[in-house]
Amino acid sequence: MIRTALVTGARGKTGREVAVRLRRAGILVRAGSSRPDGTDQIRFDWDDPTTWREAAAGVDAIYLMRPDLLAAPELVAGLVEVNPEAHVVLLSEQGAETVAPDHWARRVEDAVVTRAASWTLLRPSWFHQILTDSRFYLDAVRDDHVLSLPSGGAPLAWVDARDIAEVAVAALLAPDEHRGQAYTITGPEAITVATVAKELSSRLGHEIRAEDPVPEDTHHGLDPWTAGILDDLYHRVRNGGFADLSPAVKLITGHEPTSLSTFLDTHLDAWRTPSE
Ligand SMILES: NC(=O)c1ccc[n+]([C@@H]2O[C@H](COP(=O)([O-])OP(=O)(O)OC[C@H]3O[C@@H](n4cnc5c(N)ncnc54)[C@H](OP(=O)(O)O)[C@@H]3O)[C@@H](O)[C@H]2O)c1
Repeated sequence: MIRTALVTGARGKTGREVAVRLRRAGILVRAGSSRPDGTDQIRFDWDDPTTWREAAAGVDAIYLMRPDLLAAPELVAGLVEVNPEAHVVLLSEQGAETVAPDHWARRVEDAVVTRAASWTLLRPSWFHQILTDSRFYLDAVRDDHVLSLPSGGAPLAWVDARDIAEVAVAALLAPDEHRGQAYTITGPEAITVATVAKELSSRLGHEIRAEDPVPEDTHHGLDPWTAGILDDLYHRVRNGGFADLSPAVKLITGHEPTSLSTFLDTHLDAWRTPSE
């Protein structure tokens, strides 16, 4: 039974849901943020290792959201070494087990698996919530009526961040049950970008155009590492690497995973401009 947990990325799509659910379950949560808002969050900054000890020392479990940084394998290793006895639930990505051993995503998983006394790996597909995130597709869908993703027409097994969080919380609360497991986490069906755009169009009453650029055309202005990671990601998407479905959400939470239709139905205002 765990009593205390560190949640990294506690303002992020999955982290905030994990923190809320753990607190509801009576766990003392250290909610980590690089810019804590002063209420119920603590400072945890991947760029400042002096914040790691206070955040991670003494907790029974860690929800570990890897940073999308070149140095993530070393950063994650450093955090686990602060408290190698804690049960670590790592947010990785679908297909991490299929890439080369020296691939960044594999090296992040290895950093945990080889150091933490107890771990569970979560390998989610693409989140529904990137459609409502300004860092990803929100602005283009709302303002330009375009959904542009170099998928090559391959479907993605879109999954809801809240379902990922529920699986994460189950793994955090019951380490004995989930220790040493790796769960691919997906929604109930694999859906193409063209279909997502069509579903958005019919709900919003105006066309959302699906675009399918070549991966190389999406890298302008990015640093070489980020461009390389995206290139690899898009090629895996195009090869169907994010299309396989997993029963994990149903098996672990007891309910069906949230469908993309439900997500679209309940977030329509996000893609409407104030004048609409
Ligand atoms: N998005 C997807 O579809 C998808 C699919 C599979 C896997 N993943 C993986 O899931 C993870 C989350 O992805 P996301 O992009 O969607 O992020 P997100 O959930 O929106 O969260 C980003 C988080 O990073 C935190 N952060 C930013 N700078 C930080 C720093 N210097 N130190 C500590 N925390 C910092 C932010 O919180 P503060 O600003 O409060 O620090 C925020 O909570 C990533 O590892 C990603 O590779 C994502």
